Amino acid sequence: MTVSSKPADIPVVPLARICAARVLVVGDVMLDRYWFGDVNRISPEAPVPVVRVQKKEDRLGGAANAARNAAALGAQAGLLCVVGHDEPGERIVELLGESKVQGHMERDPVLPTTIKLRVLSRQQQLLRVDFENTPNHEVLRACLARFAELLPQHDVILLSDYAKGGLTHVTQMISEAKRASKPVLVDPKGDDWERYRGATLITPNRAELREVVGQWKSEDDLHERVKKLREELDFGALLLTRSEEGMTLFTDSQVLHTSAEAREVYDVSGAGDTVIATVATMLGAGVPLVDSIIYANRAADIVVGKLGTATVEYNELFA
Ligand SMILES: Nc1ncnc2c1ncn2[C@@H]1O[C@H](COP(=O)(O)OP(=O)(O)OP(=O)(O)O)[C@@H](O)[C@H]1O
Ligand SMILES: [Mg+2]
Repeated sequence: MTVSSKPADIPVVPLARICAARVLVVGDVMLDRYWFGDVNRISPEAPVPVVRVQKKEDRLGGAANAARNAAALGAQAGLLCVVGHDEPGERIVELLGESKVQGHMERDPVLPTTIKLRVLSRQQQLLRVDFENTPNHEVLRACLARFAELLPQHDVILLSDYAKGGLTHVTQMISEAKRASKPVLVDPKGDDWERYRGATLITPNRAELREVVGQWKSEDDLHERVKKLREELDFGALLLTRSEEGMTLFTDSQVLHTSAEAREVYDVSGAGDTVIATVATMLGAGVPLVDSIIYANRAADIVVGKLGTATVEYNELFA
């Protein structure tokens, strides 16, 4: 059965219930760094433009952006992740503090903290420079031990995979969370989803799902492929985010489609983080899954209409 739903049907969730929701985000964090400046000459060293940097901006990315989104809605958000002993690592800690996210950082002394540096001039990106590496094994084991300690203090687990190695022990984290009867939400990456076996909800975008089930030929074909995948890997539900087409939730009992209603779209990057963070927050507040999806759709509509911030606050969601 396919149902389409309108956002207007859903009542306000009291702020006190949202504030009681304890969401633990685990995964790959990164720092999105932007350097802006003018170009007035070509380098004498090589045929490349010379940018004189006039403005710098840093934003939380990856799992940190998901955690920041949960905190912006009013949830108690914790973030378990690995960073290096370096300036970008310190900057992430500082930004988490400003975003009211409780950081549980494991430090890898030789790891460069993941950072994506963009150099821009006149709204044009000239270069992107990435620093990243896989955290070492001991640090990842320490992360897993810390996860077991943090689990009892949280209501919902959100695993945000950006394929940087932070979720090496994801399968074990999922089984521990399920043993503790906590819902586990996964934002997946890559083509090996066996490692997410048993997740309560998995939230791929179109390209991520295509990589695993192949290209579907019709909606019916999509439903078949998702059904098979859910059965094989024991996923409680799958939420396909479909950019301008909105999102579709697949559960045992139904397929629920919600359309994107954004009137003006300014910045779609990070909308997937907003979606999963909103679902996690709502589940933590005791909202049923199907209703949580409607709120997530509304949050996504709001966030794509914003420039820069990439989060949605309680008052905006329930305006
Ligand atoms: N162009 C768009 N127009 C309207 N809504 C959009 C658009 N792009 C994204 N959205 C909204 O945001 C949701 C998530 O976007 P999308 O499916 O692109 O996730 P994503 O690829 O994981 O995003 P990201 O990885 O950049 O965070 C969509 O389900 C939709 O509600
Ligand atoms: Mg995404």
